[in-house]
Amino acid sequence: MKFVAISGSLRARSLNTAVVRTAAELCLPPVSMTVYEGLGSLPFFNQDVESECPPPEVMEFRALLESADAVMISSPEYAHGTSGVLKNGLEWIVGGGELVDKPVAVVTASPSMTGGDRAQAWVKETLEVMGANILPESLPIPLASAKVTEGRVSDEETLAALKDVLAAMARAAKEQGAEG
Ligand SMILES: Cc1cc2nc3c(=O)[nH]c(=O)nc-3n(C[C@H](O)[C@H](O)[C@H](O)COP(=O)(O)O)c2cc1C
Repeated sequence: MKFVAISGSLRARSLNTAVVRTAAELCLPPVSMTVYEGLGSLPFFNQDVESECPPPEVMEFRALLESADAVMISSPEYAHGTSGVLKNGLEWIVGGGELVDKPVAVVTASPSMTGGDRAQAWVKETLEVMGANILPESLPIPLASAKVTEGRVSDEETLAALKDVLAAMARAAKEQGAEG
């Protein structure tokens, strides 16, 4: 079973990148998780370019998502929304339909008390429009700076919650496989 994870932050010491890297390390065979590292290399979405000839970075991103049984998106909250780079990435896959019916878990890690709940709602609304199967086990992580050490989630409660999200992704992927 193949999962793909996307961090919506390009920051070297990103809390959300720590979340997806930790999640990937928590996956045990037969489940594996690929962390997509190319979000910052995608060009700005342009509908003309999309309809004429999408660049190779976009085709790779689409193919990776197409091949995934389930996807985890971990988003920062910037000015009560998601990051521009994540929104840009999602725009490139609206037309391709790679997330239609795909189980997607949304995580938001923020140093604030709210855990990035507004970015979480924002990402979910976009995913809903895209026809993704948004999992109810999505996870806000408040006060996340205190829960990450050296680029990995270190807080036991958060690790347990992350495992629950991964288990929900596996269940949903299995169900989707049975239906498809
Ligand atoms: C321009 C800017 C706007 C931000 N706006 C919010 C916000 O609305 N809500 C929030 O919880 N945190 C906000 N933050 C704090 C980010 O959540 C914090 O920098 C977080 O660590 C970013 O995610 P990352 O660690 O994955 O890079 C903001 C940070 C910046 C730089």
